[in-house]
Amino acid sequence: MSLAGENESLEREFQKGVKHLCERGIKSVPSKYILPVLDQPNSGKGISSASNSNLKLPVIDFAKLQGSNRSHTVNSLRKACEEFGFFQLVNHDIPRDVIENMVDVSKRFFELPFEERSKYMLTDMNSAVRYGTSFNQNKDAVFCWRDFLKLSCHHLSDVLPLWPSSPMDLRQAVINYSNNTKFLYQMLTEAILESLGLVDTNNNEKENDELEEFKDGSHLIVINCYPACPEPDLTLGMPPHSDYGLLTLLLQDEVEGLQIQHEGRWATVEPLPDSLVVNIGDHLEIFSNGIYKSVLHRVLVNPSKSRISIASLHSLPFNNVVQPSPKLIDEDNPRHYKDTDFATFLDYNSSCEPKKKSFLESRKLT
Ligand code: OGA
Ligand code: NI
Repeated sequence: MSLAGENESLEREFQKGVKHLCERGIKSVPSKYILPVLDQPNSGKGISSASNSNLKLPVIDFAKLQGSNRSHTVNSLRKACEEFGFFQLVNHDIPRDVIENMVDVSKRFFELPFEERSKYMLTDMNSAVRYGTSFNQNKDAVFCWRDFLKLSCHHLSDVLPLWPSSPMDLRQAVINYSNNTKFLYQMLTEAILESLGLVDTNNNEKENDELEEFKDGSHLIVINCYPACPEPDLTLGMPPHSDYGLLTLLLQDEVEGLQIQHEGRWATVEPLPDSLVVNIGDHLEIFSNGIYKSVLHRVLVNPSKSRISIASLHSLPFNNVVQPSPKLIDEDNPRHYKDTDFATFLDYNSSCEPKKKSFLESRKLT
């Protein structure tokens, strides 16, 4: 085969995803996945990664948030959102079998023959269901070491018929998980608005418009699969990014991989059994006028273990405009962000490779 022909056929192989490449028995990372040296996980560009270390995130006890000592936990929540942009949520009340079934069916989905998975490999970035690899496999110059299944969960009755019909129990497992995470998101949002001084839970008469707007927005579940990687120092499961929406609830298995930027370095989030990792997204940073931070994070891949994570991403309804809450702006605290909406985000994404924190940066008023 000519070199050009060979490259073309390799290119087609990459489109099938990392799982597929691994099943073909590759022993090294193809060049398509090799990051420029400065972007490689140990390069230490701009931040020292020689001091990589594990990080114990603040722990928020969901049960205590419902108890008589709520205000104490709301204070801890505020501190966590200000200082880390991330926390671990324990005692979250999602039944163990709901989580186990979700993880189990996710693993079985990625074990399906490629032909079955590829039915959902659609080019439309906004379709209600999309199986794919990297971020945007039609555009990314360098691929990341990740395959994913993205499922829109809003409104369930509209999107359900579009979800994969195999494995047979996938739809039911995701419905259960999605209902549970949606409820948790709503409870957390209420507490977060309270921590910003925007909701008065003792006064039912008071209008809580924001809460209503936040409660019924878009909801995506993204199942990420990071196969074991023969040369994990050359690539990343996900490059540094911040999450676009309001709040992300992440279920990670026992394999380490998630790193967040904290105090100028990359720190690994230690998996904590039975917890969810929760982080602030760009919209909440904007809405809080910068009091809460949407923090950069990335995913390392593992030389011997495959890793699964399930992200539940919550945003405002697609057509809503996000702006700093007027209640958080005054003479001493001027507005720090422009209005933004989903269309602006899509325009931004199609005009450049979504990388780093650039979208949020582009919304800042200087
Ligand atoms: C994400 C994300 C982290 C992980 O889905 O946005 O950051 O550990 N995932 O998979
Ligand atoms: Ni993320």
